[in-house]
Amino acid sequence: MASNSHSPTQHRMAWGLLLALVVLAAPLAWFISGAVHYLTDWSVASYTAYYWGRRFGLIAHVVPGVAASSAGLVQLWLGLTGRSGRVHRVLGRVYVAAVALGSLAAVYLALTIPGHFAYASGLVGLALAWATTTAMAVATIRTGLVAAHRQWMVRSYTVTFAFVLLRLVDQPLHWLIPVAADPVADQIGTMTAWASWAVPLLLVDLVFQARAVIAENRGSPG
Ligand code: HEM
Repeated sequence: MASNSHSPTQHRMAWGLLLALVVLAAPLAWFISGAVHYLTDWSVASYTAYYWGRRFGLIAHVVPGVAASSAGLVQLWLGLTGRSGRVHRVLGRVYVAAVALGSLAAVYLALTIPGHFAYASGLVGLALAWATTTAMAVATIRTGLVAAHRQWMVRSYTVTFAFVLLRLVDQPLHWLIPVAADPVADQIGTMTAWASWAVPLLLVDLVFQARAVIAENRGSPG
């Protein structure tokens, strides 16, 4: 938590941030617990025929995916509360390596989805967004642009979380909207392959731009 030298506003922001991260941690834990069987049970029953032929690609994707989503959550807390010491730098390297490997394996998985061009292309777009937002977070900190680095890390983690969001909203959307069944991806799955990352990225940028406009109107730098 913030030290006593911090203002009440900074204390409130730190608590707000902690609350937001706890809210993200719950669905993340739910999603990861559902994926543990890929690591513990190496059988067709565990993987289903759909993933069995692509099991090495899936493992190369799930392990970094779990590492990036867990490390990223801690990184956001450390970075946004100004704790940029050794732990932050080590976890940052873990996060970047995990995104690099996880996104390469994600492209392989997306390109080997049978048919379903719209669904697969949404997931390729997600993988590209994952790699490029993270690359921007690295480039900005390497050039000393701390404020820009924070924003790119928030964008990067927003994208990291998109796959969890995609699985989280799937069932509720099916309760609300009846669509024809499809064993790979129905219309809802296809729509969320795009919307799960494009919509949150748009919302995050609206917040960043709105804050910059408000700061400029008050005459202080954004
Ligand atoms: C953000 C970028 C990500 C992309 C582009 C991506 C892409 C993919 C793709 C293409 C598949 C195969 C889908 C299919 O064949 O129908 C997949 C499956 C999977 N991914 Fe990811 N993923 C991402 C993030 C993550 C993260 C962060 C995790 C772990 C926390 C994760 C865990 C899984 C799991 C467990 C599966 C297999 C089970 C399932 O389909 O739910 N992914 N992912």
